[in-house]
Amino acid sequence: MSKILVITSSPRGERSVSRALTAKFAQLWAQQHPQDTIFLRDIGHHPVPHVSEPWVIGAFGSPEAQTPESKAAIAVSDQLVEEFLNADRYIFGVPMYNLNIPSTLKAYIDQIVRAGKTFAVGPNGYEGLVKDKKALFITSSGGSFPPGSPMASYNFQEPYLRAIFGFIGVTDVHFVVADSMNQGDDSAKLSRQKAENALTELAATW
Ligand SMILES: Cc1cc2nc3c(=O)[nH]c(=O)nc-3n(C[C@H](O)[C@H](O)[C@H](O)COP(=O)(O)O)c2cc1C
Repeated sequence: MSKILVITSSPRGERSVSRALTAKFAQLWAQQHPQDTIFLRDIGHHPVPHVSEPWVIGAFGSPEAQTPESKAAIAVSDQLVEEFLNADRYIFGVPMYNLNIPSTLKAYIDQIVRAGKTFAVGPNGYEGLVKDKKALFITSSGGSFPPGSPMASYNFQEPYLRAIFGFIGVTDVHFVVADSMNQGDDSAKLSRQKAENALTELAATW
């Protein structure tokens, strides 16, 4: 029995491609793995706070430096970290915004990448502490960034997600891409169908 944390980051509702595909995959997964528990964290509609000065004091300040504000700010992060560590698998719905992830997802990442909790600094350098997890990133974008093409270097989304989740130890990652959403109806439809097919296959094999 696994715990699955679904994290959606599009601010859009029914028109969101990443949200619809993420919901579809979660539904397929639930049908095929009824013993699993699925939790939803919708940061697209309910953003988590940005890192603030009290947060930095809460995370790095001495016990004497703590204030009611720093304790409250870091308590939010502690809770998000606990929820994250409690899950076995992650399903992220991620729109591309300005070649990268939406700021809501960046704010979430800033809350859960925590020294001593999700990564450690030891004599041999950094070590990810989030072990034996799997992450699926379902991304959507207006354009397309095929590997090896001149556009590939504009895609900061996938390399960043691989890097930051790898940094905390989540190295078993899978990407399903619904690109070309703004490149005409035919291209969008084809790309979305390909993503749906990939997700259907993945629901049985992931
Ligand atoms: C503010 C904003 C920035 C965007 N930036 C890009 C971009 O840099 N590259 C791209 O291919 N598409 C970009 N898009 C298009 C979205 O990635 C595309 O509409 C995607 O389907 C959004 O995800 P959603 O449908 O889940 O909301 C942008 C859209 C918005 C609203």
